Amino acid sequence: MKVTVVSRSGREIIKGGIQLNDSATVSDLQEAIHARTKKYYPSRQRLTLPLNPGSKDKPTVLNSKTSLCDYCDAKKDNLTVVFKDLGPQVSYQILFFWEYVGPLVIYPLFYYLPVYKFLGYKEERVIRPVQTYAMYYWCFHYFKRIMETFFIHRFSHATSPISNVFRNCAYYWSFGAFIAYYVNHPLYTPVSDLQMKIGFGFGIICQVSNLYCHLLLRNLRSPSGNGGYQIPYGFLFNIVTCANYTTEIYQWLGFNIATQTVAGYVFLVVAASIMSNWALAKHRRLRRLFDGKEGRPKYPRRWVILPPFL
Ligand SMILES: NC(=O)c1ccc[n+]([C@@H]2O[C@H](COP(=O)([O-])OP(=O)(O)OC[C@H]3O[C@@H](n4cnc5c(N)ncnc54)[C@H](OP(=O)(O)O)[C@@H]3O)[C@@H](O)[C@H]2O)c1
Repeated sequence: MKVTVVSRSGREIIKGGIQLNDSATVSDLQEAIHARTKKYYPSRQRLTLPLNPGSKDKPTVLNSKTSLCDYCDAKKDNLTVVFKDLGPQVSYQILFFWEYVGPLVIYPLFYYLPVYKFLGYKEERVIRPVQTYAMYYWCFHYFKRIMETFFIHRFSHATSPISNVFRNCAYYWSFGAFIAYYVNHPLYTPVSDLQMKIGFGFGIICQVSNLYCHLLLRNLRSPSGNGGYQIPYGFLFNIVTCANYTTEIYQWLGFNIATQTVAGYVFLVVAASIMSNWALAKHRRLRRLFDGKEGRPKYPRRWVILPPFL
């Protein structure tokens, strides 16, 4: 079979095309493109079927595990695919590691080092119990996330564009510094003892629940990450599609009840709105995949992320 690889503007990427045997898969084609171009390793390549001129449809993305013949016209033994360079890639583990290690390191700097003296505060800094608990709570959260990244999550995509590392690090690192600055500030006013205990107690329950949600999601896939998207069941997933995001939002609420800073609440609102958008997309995807037609199960009625509002 001959495969012609063109750019979106129609320019031939591999001069003369690529000759492959009839049983070749999309993955074999990606390896062949890599062998001819070196720069474009498989995870950098996005291959789609060409669209008819003027078509507004979304192009079909070729699945690496599928046989190329499945995308061919029955009568033809040649195929044209459209190539897009996704740019340099990093693994999801590397992406998540860098975005979480920032807040894990930055926050304790504000607690342990004489940052405020350096910034011009002359008085002796008295560390309140709530500031100490907040530092442990914060570090536990990001340490847990790094551990989950390496030992629990089973990602369906191997890599992400390297530009996401800079964008995500900017988000997590700057919010980490912003919150740490205010919670550890020498002029910080602590909340009452009872409020602190309620906040941290509730937050810890939510962090443990969040870990349990991630274990339930993990069991939906095989260790290789195969299995696609399944209907999550059990615990809070029986009532809400993205129970992992629900518990994540509530654990930040717990932190904010205990520490009470504007910076912390701003982060809560931004994080909740980001996760709500993602949750809506995930909810729609599961409803589309499990539509109850042609033998497929029907997605049960559930809240998206924050019952009883959404
Ligand atoms: N504070 C914040 O701003 C913020 C923002 C986002 C996330 N977080 C935290 O980070 C955690 C991880 O975030 P995430 O966005 O990566 O979570 P996620 O996509 O909801 O899920 C985590 C893992 O479970 C898999 N998964 C999800 N739904 C599945 C389904 N129906 N069937 C099979 N597998 C499924 C995902 O696979 P895929 O690889 O296919 O996605 C991913 O590997 C969150 O749960 C939350 O605790 C915090």
